Amino acid sequence: MGISRLNSAQLSDELFQKFSKLVYDTAGIYLHEGKKSLLQARLNKRLRATGIKSYEEYYKYLTNPSNFGEFIHFLDVISTNLTYFFREYQHFDFLEKVALPEITSKKLKDGDRRIRMWSAGCSTGEEPYSIAMCVLTFFEKNTQKVKWDFKILATDISTRVLQTAIKGIYSEDRVKKVPPAMKNRFFIKIVQNGEKVYQVSEELKKVVTFRRLNLKDRYPFKGPFEVIFCRNVMIYFDKPTQGELIRRMTSYLAPGGYFFVGHSESLAGLNHGLKYVMPAIYQKP
Ligand SMILES: C[S@@+](CC[C@H](N)C(=O)[O-])C[C@H]1O[C@@H](n2cnc3c(N)ncnc32)[C@H](O)[C@@H]1O
Repeated sequence: MGISRLNSAQLSDELFQKFSKLVYDTAGIYLHEGKKSLLQARLNKRLRATGIKSYEEYYKYLTNPSNFGEFIHFLDVISTNLTYFFREYQHFDFLEKVALPEITSKKLKDGDRRIRMWSAGCSTGEEPYSIAMCVLTFFEKNTQKVKWDFKILATDISTRVLQTAIKGIYSEDRVKKVPPAMKNRFFIKIVQNGEKVYQVSEELKKVVTFRRLNLKDRYPFKGPFEVIFCRNVMIYFDKPTQGELIRRMTSYLAPGGYFFVGHSESLAGLNHGLKYVMPAIYQKP
């Protein structure tokens, strides 16, 4: 019998509640009863990696403040990191056709060149790199003579995904959704372990800064951001946490700035003070 089978029999409801409370209190991620087998599978990974024999022992180890390193690994396996380039393409279309013309013309009028965007819950980097490609292409097409001071802050709670994001190397399969002209301009084809892979160019890397940040913690920056993407992150949080985080995040949004959420997420019923623009897109008045 494999270790995962042995362990799966042992996660009591009581212990499941303890783990889910811990995940909720620290990361805001809400694991309801139906997530028990998912939690077990993920805990098994950490038991294997640490050599700890039972969930109970692991829980004790995890909640000992001197084992903070393991806490980061634990959050790494708990979070779900699915993402891809140009996910929910309408958002990039809106960025190019509405948000960027509006933002850049206002900035030019005000004599301001600073544009900041935030990808909150950026996972392995596809989202911030897609935003960067979209913005740099827009600048080149529309405001060629202007030297913008443009930066994207990309944050995630998981150090594992951030390592991949910083490397910026993706398999051929993962870059399929990148429009060919952008693929040519912003990626370098290299061979890694006998496989053809795509590495993001220095031009893209230069505009994206990756940092670990738990959205529930204090934010160590001032903003303001013209655009915030927080997509497919809030689905893990319960309503009160969603409301609290949205209010906090959008307090870093510049007036007129845009807030993007995932298409399966809705801000309905939350007190956020934003103007609805279209599905999954909001604007700060
Ligand atoms: C499904 S991915 C979404 C990636 C990308 N935004 C997209 O839409 O394709 C969700 C990401 O949120 C991150 N996450 C979950 N809880 C978080 C928290 N409390 N603080 C920061 N990031 C969190 C996860 O680590 C994961 O990488």
